[in-house]
Amino acid sequence: MKDQLMSLLAAAKESVETVDSLQSLEDIRIKYLGKKGELTAIMKQMGKLSKEERPVIGKVANEVRSDIESILSEYKDAMKEKELAKQLASESIDVTMPGKVARAGKRHPLNKVLDELKSSFIGMGFKIAEGPEVDTVYNNFDALNSPQDHPARSTSDTFYITDDLLLRTHTSPVQIRTMKKMKPPIKIISPGRCFRFDELDATHSPMFHQLEGLVVGEGITMADLKGTLDMIAKRIFGSNTQTKFRPHHFPFTEPSAEVDVTCFKCGGEGCRVCSGTGWIEILGCGMVHPHVLAECGIDPEVYSGFAFGMGVDRITMLRLEIDDIRLFFDNDMRFIDQF
Ligand code: DAH
Repeated sequence: MKDQLMSLLAAAKESVETVDSLQSLEDIRIKYLGKKGELTAIMKQMGKLSKEERPVIGKVANEVRSDIESILSEYKDAMKEKELAKQLASESIDVTMPGKVARAGKRHPLNKVLDELKSSFIGMGFKIAEGPEVDTVYNNFDALNSPQDHPARSTSDTFYITDDLLLRTHTSPVQIRTMKKMKPPIKIISPGRCFRFDELDATHSPMFHQLEGLVVGEGITMADLKGTLDMIAKRIFGSNTQTKFRPHHFPFTEPSAEVDVTCFKCGGEGCRVCSGTGWIEILGCGMVHPHVLAECGIDPEVYSGFAFGMGVDRITMLRLEIDDIRLFFDNDMRFIDQF
């Protein structure tokens, strides 16, 4: 039996030497020392031994058990160290490798010009109002005094979502939302995205940007409208800029006008930017129609106001001499990097 024990010890030593993972060490422990292991099997035969032999063999068996245990724990420590070293090696960082250059983004030219516009208006006491890009047909048309048969309402001009909802075709519905929420005096601008059923080309995009303005109070006149927009034009395009108000028609203003500014490039002489006319059209405006005020619960006998809407894409294109609106939406850094 002593021989059996000694060869068991030798076999255990041998198998430990070939081990390559913590799991296989554990398998060896179970094989030799487990409840159903080989050492237990030998011990079960102790009953057959004589009284004198039993303590001697018992002692040997205990020594074999503790020898195997200490070999296993020795290998276990070594194995852990090895696995840690392997992990560290695989995770090591070579600090001499060239780094990845993090490409910083750049302010989009549209946002650059929009930021300038906003700070000019904020400097004149305007607050910024916001409205959703999906709005009601009522806010976008009806409340703005645009009759059922107005051509802008046709499905070939407008993206309808349901009979009552659409992608707003201009920022003017923010006027309605603001007047229904706030009491005069009101002095807001509202920049944002608009959508029309336009074929994409160098000057048209089905998604574009406008900046709406609205001033309502007691005793607001066309002189306030002209003074405000003239001042804004000078801030945006330079202090020598002159403005020209041309009669026009919008359903939600009466009277209405379009505003031209002298070309900032040639100063009015005529050049490529202004198509040789010396003037550039920048916005639509007018005195808020009494129907619109009344629809929003503001008494037109007491209050009056003016409104305007400008195309942010167009103004940006003029200012930065960009000749294709599609460049704004291509997300090409070679374009954006230029401004
Ligand atoms: N909503 C008009 C458009 O999309 C622009 C506009 C004109 C807005 C006159 C106004 C305004 O507030 O008074 O063409």
